[in-house]
Amino acid sequence: MGVISLVYSVISFLLELWVFILFTGQVFFEILYKFLFPPELKSLDDEVILITGAASGIGRQVALQIAAKARVKLVLWDVDKNGNLDLAGDLKRIGVEAFPYHVDLTQRSQIIEAATKVRQDVGDVSMIINNAAVTYPQPFLESSRKPRNLELIFKTNVFAHQYIIGEFLPKMLENRKGHIVTVASVGSFSSTAFLADYVGSKHGVHGMIESLKDELARDPFQPDIKFTTAFPYFTKSNLSGYNNSTLVRRYPFSFPMLETSAVARYIVNGIRQNKEFVYCPGYFRVLAVVASLLPSKIVRAAKRLLTYEVELDRTYFESIATTPLPAPITPLPSPPPAPAKNGTLKHKPLVPPRVPVQPGS
Ligand SMILES: NC(=O)c1ccc[n+]([C@@H]2O[C@H](COP(=O)([O-])OP(=O)(O)OC[C@H]3O[C@@H](n4cnc5c(N)ncnc54)[C@H](O)[C@@H]3O)[C@@H](O)[C@H]2O)c1
Ligand SMILES: *[C@@H]1O[C@H](CO)[C@@H](O)[C@H](O)[C@H]1NC(C)=O
Ligand SMILES: *[C@@H]1O[C@H](CO)[C@@H](O)[C@H](O)[C@H]1NC(C)=O
Ligand SMILES: *[C@@H]1O[C@H](CO)[C@@H](O)[C@H](O)[C@H]1NC(C)=O
Ligand SMILES: *[C@@H]1O[C@H](CO)[C@@H](O)[C@H](O)[C@H]1NC(C)=O
Repeated sequence: MGVISLVYSVISFLLELWVFILFTGQVFFEILYKFLFPPELKSLDDEVILITGAASGIGRQVALQIAAKARVKLVLWDVDKNGNLDLAGDLKRIGVEAFPYHVDLTQRSQIIEAATKVRQDVGDVSMIINNAAVTYPQPFLESSRKPRNLELIFKTNVFAHQYIIGEFLPKMLENRKGHIVTVASVGSFSSTAFLADYVGSKHGVHGMIESLKDELARDPFQPDIKFTTAFPYFTKSNLSGYNNSTLVRRYPFSFPMLETSAVARYIVNGIRQNKEFVYCPGYFRVLAVVASLLPSKIVRAAKRLLTYEVELDRTYFESIATTPLPAPITPLPSPPPAPAKNGTLKHKPLVPPRVPVQPGS
């Protein structure tokens, strides 16, 4: 019995391996074919496109650039009511159907409510552009003491993606067609001092979408759901505190900061080419591969040399926090009293204790 099942599993494995090898060949052939004969950019006509964080920055530019190229219905979600109405006005003036909604993405109930309204007022969403995000630079340990910012970051940058996709994916699966766009960040595969919570959220949302893709690939009916994830570098927007010198260039040789319109062009082109990953600028894809091969000490030193330092001017970020404060966050329980230490610690503490200098010692 044992021998039969072993033989069976060996044969089964070899068959699956053969299918896998054929599949690999097919994928590489498709890539080569697309390279030699680039397909026409897909038209976005007749799509119903939801853009979150549309009121300013990259989201606004994406909305304007899509509107300039296609007859679409644009559903605009933002917590910045005036900015959103302003954009909707601009879009309507150029003859585009725009539907602005005032939504605070940190509130799951508001997401569900707005999604219901969109289905009634506009119809099924065929493309989601999850773009809204927040950041509040602060030292790592401060996030433990003041978890409000940490929670706002993860609610906006990660949880909202889950809830929004949860609202619209079922209908996409039913229609066997849809496109989910995620505006992530180079911070989805690299790191930055004083942005630990933001970078964590960007890594998080990237992994979340990749796993969703794995899950959908198991669907025997292979619904045609496209995914595009964009990884922009620092961009001149409110989020990066541009104009308020929250990012400091140590030497003039840093990678140049991007214009929101340039990032939007990468994203819209990427969507229309059904690209899975969009690096903005494109050469960051190469940098990411090189960095992954180098010792991390070298990568860290190179980042100090060539990118920006985060200036901890937190008053700026507090002042632009358009998100209203959520209901009081349950205070964290105070940590249990530390056990009496009478040995050496196994691990070095994260912050070495300050040893007061004894006068005269
Ligand atoms: N600016 C950069 O340096 C940079 C770099 C890489 C990636 N990105 C990503 O690009 C995307 C767009 O950022 P941006 O630079 O255009 O910033 P931005 O601040 O100009 O735009 C973000 C928009 O999201 C909205 N928003 C924030 N919190 C919200 C909430 N709770 N509910 C509803 N709307 C909310 C804001 O009102 C704003 O209109 C983000 O995902 C960001 O992480 C930005
Ligand atoms: C930054 O935010 C302010 C206030 O919300 C807004 O008026 C301004 O247009 C934003 N800047 C950009 C470039 O979107
Ligand atoms: C920065 O200032 C310039 C000039 O005042 C303005 O055009 C631009 O929109 C501002 N950028 C942001 C992100 O506020
Ligand atoms: C940010 O910079 C702009 C333009 O330089 C200025 O008008 C605005 O007051 C600044 N905002 C903050 C919060 O410092
Ligand atoms: C402290 O030392 C005593 C005696 O050496 C030992 O029995 C005890 O377990 C130690 N306590 C801790 C918390 O390590």
